[in-house]
Amino acid sequence: MKTGLETLVLPAGSAAAEAAARTLAAGGLVAFPTETVYGLGADAANATAVAHIYSAKGRPAFNPLIAHVPDLAAAQAIGRFDARALALAQAFWPGPLTLVVPKTEGCPVSDLATAGLDTVAIRIPAHPVAEAILRAFGGAVVAPSANISGHVSPTLAAHVESDLSGRIDLIVDGGPVAVGVESTIVGCFEAPMLLRPGGLSRERIEAVLGAPLARPPVEPESDDSQPLAPGMLASHYAPRANVRLRAQDVAPDEALLAFGPARLPGLEAAAAVMNLSPAADLDEAAANLFGYLRSLDAKAPKAIAVMAIPEEGLGEAINDRLRRAAVAR
Ligand code: TXA
Ligand code: MG
Repeated sequence: MKTGLETLVLPAGSAAAEAAARTLAAGGLVAFPTETVYGLGADAANATAVAHIYSAKGRPAFNPLIAHVPDLAAAQAIGRFDARALALAQAFWPGPLTLVVPKTEGCPVSDLATAGLDTVAIRIPAHPVAEAILRAFGGAVVAPSANISGHVSPTLAAHVESDLSGRIDLIVDGGPVAVGVESTIVGCFEAPMLLRPGGLSRERIEAVLGAPLARPPVEPESDDSQPLAPGMLASHYAPRANVRLRAQDVAPDEALLAFGPARLPGLEAAAAVMNLSPAADLDEAAANLFGYLRSLDAKAPKAIAVMAIPEEGLGEAINDRLRRAAVAR
């Protein structure tokens, strides 16, 4: 690990984009905002820089990373798009969708970043700061979420600082992110497959495909399994406190993560209460999810009780992250 680095924090702007591009070109690590969560970027073609991502995050295995590009032409230089992949790209890029497609011949993305697979995960983020950095750099940037492995993904530059300061070169602060959960990942296989629910709802993708998305054949269970999308590891988005799902009451030593109108037994006496969306808006709830989990966790409650959240729209991604957070460790 490259510890003892002086981590520079710059407000977003053209100077920051230039500094980010120079740092990436020199093999450094740059955290930057996307519309989903903050990413920790490295030059996709530089295997040493990619290796530093894994050590900085403390990622247990060389799980493959998502290559971020500024436009479709750059995406087609690294991945092969069939008609369905192209239809999804045209419908939703830039946006919170990652497509797993076969690599092109001569794909410059390092084997470490694709974990030796013959496919590559690609997305075009819908964020002006990410786009400016990608254009200034001029190559693909691989970027996992900019958190210590196993922690909650960062939705603010301050979250990145608290996890990775001293381990990375630069943080570009572009304020809070809009979506708040990671991108939806679709494997463009014979039958397009939902590898990870995320910031783009299943319903919208299926509307473009005109068919339901396939489910992965097995739900991976441990860090040792070789999942189709290793981000699906069972215990992943983990606060320190235990997480109790579908709560219908709250104990005095528990914090409550509420959703919609909250009138639960014990509410007044709870250690802390935050409401993901008093109006029960799932998009708003997704945007607040990781930040609120961090805030409640910081109060060191015995557990975080979470009210039920409907399994529709972005609720599928929210419930996926909460179930992983609730897995006993
Ligand atoms: O919203 C996001 O996707 C954020 C921002 C920074 O773009 N990034 C992110 O990256 O969530 P990360 O590393 O936390 O998740 C990447 C996921 C992993 O689950 C990995 O298994 C999957 O992408 N993945 C990458 N390449 C793959 C491939 N060739 N085949 C299948 N899954 C792949
Ligand atoms: Mg992650």
